[in-house]
Amino acid sequence: MSNVQTTYLKDYKAPEFGIKNCDLVFELFEDYTQVTNMMSIVKVDKNSKNIVLNSVDLELTELYLNDLKLKDTRYIIDKETLTVLDVPDDFKLIIINKIYPHLNSELDGLYKSGDIFCTQNEPEGFRRITPYLDRPDVMAVFKTTLVANREKYPILLSNGNTASSFKLDDGRHGITWDDPHPKPAYLFALVAGDLGVVKDTFKTASAKIVRLNIYTDKGNESKCKHAMKSLKEAMLWDEEKYGREYDLTLYNIVAVDSFNMGAMENKGLNIFNSAYVLADEDTATDANFMGIQSVIAHEYFHNWTGNRITCRDWFQLTLKEGLTVFRDQCFSADLNSKEVQRIEDVKALRERQFVEDASPTAHPIQPNSYMAINNFYTATVYEKGAEIIRMIHTLLGEENYRKATDLYFESFDGQAVRTDDFLWAMSKASGVDLKAFETWYHQSGTPKLHVEERYENGEYKLTLTQKVPNAVDGSEQKPYYYPLKIALLSDNGKEILAETLIVSKDKEEFVYKLKSKPVLSINRDFSAPVIVEQKENNYPFLMKFDKNSFVKYESTQSFGVLTIESIMEGKVVDEEYIKSFESLLNTDIDLSYKALLLELPTVSTLMQRQTEVDFELIYEAKEKLELHIATKFQDKLLDIYKKYHKPTCKDIDAKSIGERSIKNRCLKLLSALKNDEVIELANNQYNESITMTDRAVALDILENISPAFAEIAQADFYKKYKDDTLVMNKYFSILAASHREGTLDRVMALQNDNAYNELVPNLVRSLIGVFARNYKHFHAKDGYGYKFVVDKIIDIDKINPQMASGLAGAFKIYEKMNIENKKAMKTELDRVVSTQSISKNVYEIVSKIIKI
Ligand code: ARG
Ligand code: ZN
Repeated sequence: MSNVQTTYLKDYKAPEFGIKNCDLVFELFEDYTQVTNMMSIVKVDKNSKNIVLNSVDLELTELYLNDLKLKDTRYIIDKETLTVLDVPDDFKLIIINKIYPHLNSELDGLYKSGDIFCTQNEPEGFRRITPYLDRPDVMAVFKTTLVANREKYPILLSNGNTASSFKLDDGRHGITWDDPHPKPAYLFALVAGDLGVVKDTFKTASAKIVRLNIYTDKGNESKCKHAMKSLKEAMLWDEEKYGREYDLTLYNIVAVDSFNMGAMENKGLNIFNSAYVLADEDTATDANFMGIQSVIAHEYFHNWTGNRITCRDWFQLTLKEGLTVFRDQCFSADLNSKEVQRIEDVKALRERQFVEDASPTAHPIQPNSYMAINNFYTATVYEKGAEIIRMIHTLLGEENYRKATDLYFESFDGQAVRTDDFLWAMSKASGVDLKAFETWYHQSGTPKLHVEERYENGEYKLTLTQKVPNAVDGSEQKPYYYPLKIALLSDNGKEILAETLIVSKDKEEFVYKLKSKPVLSINRDFSAPVIVEQKENNYPFLMKFDKNSFVKYESTQSFGVLTIESIMEGKVVDEEYIKSFESLLNTDIDLSYKALLLELPTVSTLMQRQTEVDFELIYEAKEKLELHIATKFQDKLLDIYKKYHKPTCKDIDAKSIGERSIKNRCLKLLSALKNDEVIELANNQYNESITMTDRAVALDILENISPAFAEIAQADFYKKYKDDTLVMNKYFSILAASHREGTLDRVMALQNDNAYNELVPNLVRSLIGVFARNYKHFHAKDGYGYKFVVDKIIDIDKINPQMASGLAGAFKIYEKMNIENKKAMKTELDRVVSTQSISKNVYEIVSKIIKI
């Protein structure tokens, strides 16, 4: 597998041909689909003689050029291309080919999810449907006719608006769809099935009525309410915040169970992983509700940032993804709690992206090369990309940022552009020079900022030193340019000043004339995605006084980290930390925010600070602190729990969600006691609560502290939900994340459970993916955890390479592991790369991890 080809950004060439129109006819049968693809093509580069179309795993039936059937001497079929020789300047090409959607387990191109035909074409799925110039800078107007059995597939959908429909004598029917907006093939979609639908409408700012439909398996209609509400909220928000209106009269969403990712923004026909559409209080957690709101909005926002303006090539992916994630984060912040949203976003960034950025698979948000582009739908391109846009927003200010996005939309509507074009608009409209900022697009690794403070003779001197890691290939990287929000506090906690510094050099000094030494509050709101290293710290002070909700949280976390690290060194629990924790317990603040403050640092956070990772050591120390806190604050935690435990409340307003998060945080903290009282609390909560949020928490706690009660609750849960695959995901996740002895054996056995299906990505992620993030058992010193996951990677790769390469991501911390674990990992990873048939997706990740 070492002959995998690498694609480089520097090799980009403009397309030699353009496609004006693409008329498609799909005849969908149970055992195959016939595609008739009629394209009108123009030569852009007059020197080209042949047209090379992308074509993967296609069975060609017939080929016509300007209505003349082509002999096989006029074209060449290769593994991944179809070349038509000697084509004129302007011509019509008709291609008829066959595909087998029911056999497509990669879930790329046209495939079946249960009884539903659906598509996923980003980034390169369309070439598995029909030969095409499958690249985002080739945009055509599509017209699509779907023909299928009327009874089995009454619903036939594609992009745009319905033009006409017809019936055939053989029991089939057909519908033709017209999409007036030129688009790249990756935004093409079709759906056929016997689906239920929920309908609504939205009136745009200019008073146009848009029909909104959410399609789902019949019987699930009542679970689409929240998604529909979220869609309307997103439409309104984009009008108000960005001045963007929807541009068709129809917006369709379809929920399917088998989907590689979260969702897809196909023009006018979004296709969603059902996990991001379906919810009710009985089956979805509060986090699920929030996730739906944000993904529905994300895909909707792509209509402008992604579809109207798309990417020139896939190296520009962050152009649409970073920007759209930033937009959905702001949307969620506006609709819910700003402070909680920001912390959640930073947490997610640091748990996933920072780990990636510290590994051999680190890459700039705009990568230079790839083997499999599907591997680059990463936390870096998405979440770090969003942080980059957020910094631009900070540098420009709200008003200029809006002017700049207006200019971006005005200048590039209908085009496929680059991140440079975006930066041009940002800079042009605001007058802010972003030249020095561009490094963020081209360098990888998380920069560190070293902070030194000195107070002398009425002068407070802040010395900031950037520590920029080398690139993966060892080359040196330049310092960054970014906004750093800070404040100086007086010793009674008052803000003396708050400002945004610009950090741009290797080392720089900021001097303030002050009567006494201030306390520094730094990287407020997490204004830059960097790691701050401080010699001095004032965590207890900032926990108490800082008005910036992020710094308050950060100080709590940092203090927790130091406390656990000192336990790891064999010291006793720092009583000052315990005191600060106690005052947090007693503060009267927003409950969701408070629940975040009371969360101890995650294992991942602690792991990232180690030079040689040993999970056992981390666990032991963390468990010690947990037990200490639970013992000391048992009564207080119990009080809070009892105050907010309202088992019959299932509202999902901010207040109810806050109450559930705080009391579940308390229950979780209490569970360190592992005593009868806590087991009873968890067991009662499982039995009496009517929300999935509460029951999932209870189930998780019982699983970890009481095998006997866990078994009863799990049997009950299983009986109730075994037919609901979304709920079964939670069941598998809880068991796969368990700290109990024997978890690996149970995970192995669960693969034979009737509710499990290796073909469904959600289930694989819930069972195998969650196990691979179960530090205790995955990293067990005997190496069996590694062996199991590698066996699965090799097996699943044959079914679905994207899913397999996702699982391989669990090995990204390889380089940082202790010798013993590293050796065990290496043995297994070697097995992956020496597997003959391994996909380029998995090969790329693993070969980079072990550096071959
Ligand atoms: N554009 C989609 C989104 O972010 C993701 C599609 C990714 N697909 C893939 N096969 N990697 O909303
Ligand atoms: Zn996206």
